[in-house]
Amino acid sequence: MRSPRLPLACVALALAASPARAGQSMLAPRGPAARDIASLGSPVLWIFGVVAIVMWLLIAWVALRRRGSLGDHAPAEDAGGQGWILIGGFAIPFAILAGIFIATLATMNDFPMHDGPPRPAEIEIVGHQWWWEVHYVAGPLAGRVVTANEIHIPAGRPVEIALRSADVIHSFWVPQLHGKVDLVPGQVNHIRIEADRPGSYRGECGEYCGAQHAHMILHVVAEAPDRYAAWLAHQRTPAATPANAVAQAGQRVYLAQACVLCHTVRGTRSLATIGPDLTHVASRGTLATAFPNDRAYLTAWVTHAQSLKPGAQMPDLTQMTGEETQQLVAYLEQLR
Ligand code: CUA
Repeated sequence: MRSPRLPLACVALALAASPARAGQSMLAPRGPAARDIASLGSPVLWIFGVVAIVMWLLIAWVALRRRGSLGDHAPAEDAGGQGWILIGGFAIPFAILAGIFIATLATMNDFPMHDGPPRPAEIEIVGHQWWWEVHYVAGPLAGRVVTANEIHIPAGRPVEIALRSADVIHSFWVPQLHGKVDLVPGQVNHIRIEADRPGSYRGECGEYCGAQHAHMILHVVAEAPDRYAAWLAHQRTPAATPANAVAQAGQRVYLAQACVLCHTVRGTRSLATIGPDLTHVASRGTLATAFPNDRAYLTAWVTHAQSLKPGAQMPDLTQMTGEETQQLVAYLEQLR
């Protein structure tokens, strides 16, 4: 019985690997929608695991049994093995798949999106190749604010989100909080997400959308309501005035370079909306969705974005002197 060892080891490895990446595991739910999915997904995983083990045991049994020659078994008897096919190949798979199908419909039907009347979205997310534009649209028009890639929500209550796309189909997916919902050009989709308690939940674009699809990461940061309110109030403020000479020089570099053609820094004359809003870029945990937001990556991103994320709309800015680059980075670093 050597054959089953490898598949068994693979199943064990797969099961062991999931908790290790609990930060993005649908088997470690942290919200009601994800819990609904996990309560369906976990038994399905176990059922399929058992089916796989039984299949491998049967294959091993057949391989080791090997009785007689090919001639002894050909032609097959008319009724030979039909019971196996009827029960093992039809009845059991039909029963399992029908059960899972019904359970899936039930899960979809009581998904948190569907209870109560539709509510207006608090947050609008626009998918871009390859980043997330995030609009906070609750309350009066004057209080609206735009950020990118890091989505803050209050913990412990449902948040309505509207999803749009600026280019191709993307998919919004934070496995610990909810199931995938696509961002489709020309259409608005809705999702309601809820995190049980404060924390940072990693997600990724769940639909192949071009060269940097794998670098289209997002984080949902759930905070206690008062901290969330404070965060939102801070995001509404215009950008910090550069406090020292280096950052002031950096702001002049920023305003003289191509940066202003694509980005917004509220409080300056840089008001373009092609790329992410940079008003509070230094307050975000990641840079360009996929990299640590530190000085080294910021410098590399500003000068050689195409090396970090080939195909992204951010061009390499190699025309600046080393001093200008340092000043620009110093300016961006204090946009907290
Ligand atoms: Cu956006 Cu994949």
